Amino acid sequence: MIIFSRNRRIRANQSIRDLVRETTITTDDFMLPVFITEGNNIKEEIPSMPGIYRRSLDLTVEEVKELWTLGIKAVNLYVKVSNDKKDNTGKEAWNKNGLMQQTIRAIKDAVPEMVVMPDVALDPYSVYGHDGIVENGKILNDATVDALVKMSLSHAEAGADFIAPSDMMDGRVAAIRQALEENGFYDVGIMSYAAKYASSFYGPFRDALDSAPGFGDKKTYQMDYANSREAINDALKDIEEGADMIMVKPGLPYLDIVSKLHEIVDVPVSVYQVSGEYAMIKAAVKNGWLDNDKTIIESLTCIKRAGASLISTYFAKEAALLLNK
Ligand code: PBG
Repeated sequence: MIIFSRNRRIRANQSIRDLVRETTITTDDFMLPVFITEGNNIKEEIPSMPGIYRRSLDLTVEEVKELWTLGIKAVNLYVKVSNDKKDNTGKEAWNKNGLMQQTIRAIKDAVPEMVVMPDVALDPYSVYGHDGIVENGKILNDATVDALVKMSLSHAEAGADFIAPSDMMDGRVAAIRQALEENGFYDVGIMSYAAKYASSFYGPFRDALDSAPGFGDKKTYQMDYANSREAINDALKDIEEGADMIMVKPGLPYLDIVSKLHEIVDVPVSVYQVSGEYAMIKAAVKNGWLDNDKTIIESLTCIKRAGASLISTYFAKEAALLLNK
C-alpha cells in the first residue's frame, strides 16, 4: 500500500510545528489569585502551595506592581481575617474599612489599570467556614444573597472592576446586578463562578485562608462532579441574570465542561486552575517526577485549547517569567 497522507509532515520540525500551532498562551490570558493577610511586612508561604504566599497589604501592593511589569493584567483577591472577625452573619465582609476593601483601594491607587476581581462569598468570614449563613445545619440561600449584595456593593465602592461571586447561591447574580445598577455602578462587571464543583482539589486553598468547613461539606451548594448538564444550566442562568463572564472550577479535570460551555455560551469562559492542581504539579516537581517549566506551560495551553478565554492560575507569575524569557 502506498501512503500519500502522512500526518507527521506537519510535525517534522519546530518551524512547521510553530506554523500550524492552534493555541498560544500569553500573559494576557492570566489572572493571579492573591492571598492577603492582616498586619504589616508579612509574607508567609502556604505549606501545601510552595512558592505561594499570604502577604500583608503593604507587601501585596509591591507584588502587584511587579505583576503589572510582567504583563499580568488581573488579580483575584482572597483575604484571611482573624477569628474574632468571623461570625454567622458575615458582616465583616462589607466593612468599608475591612481588609478586602482596603486592599482593593490600595491596588487601584498603585496600579490603576490592573483589573481587580475580589472574591464574593462568606467563607473567610464565617465561623462555620461555609459560603453562606447557617441555620440548623443548613446554608440559607436568600439570607446569604442579601449579605452577598452588601459585600458586592462595598467592593464596587472600593473600586473593584469585576465582582466575582464564588458562593454558588441561587439568584445572586441577578440580585448583585440590580444593586450595582441602582447604585450607579453600571461599569462594574460580574464574573460568576457559575460551574463550581464540590471538589477535593480546594484543600490547599482552605489551608491558605483557614476556611475549611467546620461541619459537613459544600455539596448542597457546589455541584456534583459527576454532572455536566447541571453546569450548563447554572451557567445559562447566571448569564441571563447578568454575568459578563462565567468561570469553570476546577480546571484540568473539568475541561469537558469548559469545552461544552465554550460551544454553547457567547460570553468569555474563564477557568480556575485551583490550589490542588497547583499542589499536585509542585509535589511531583519536588520529587523530580515532572519537569516544572514544561508542565506549567502544557497545562495552561491545554486549558486554553479547551476553550478558556482567561485562566486564573497560581502559576501566572512563573508562567509570565517563562513566557517573557
Ligand atoms: C470559596 C472559594 C474556594 C476556592 C475559591 N473560592 C474554596 C471553597 O469553595 O471551599 C478554591 C480555590 C482553590 O482551591 O484554589 N468561596
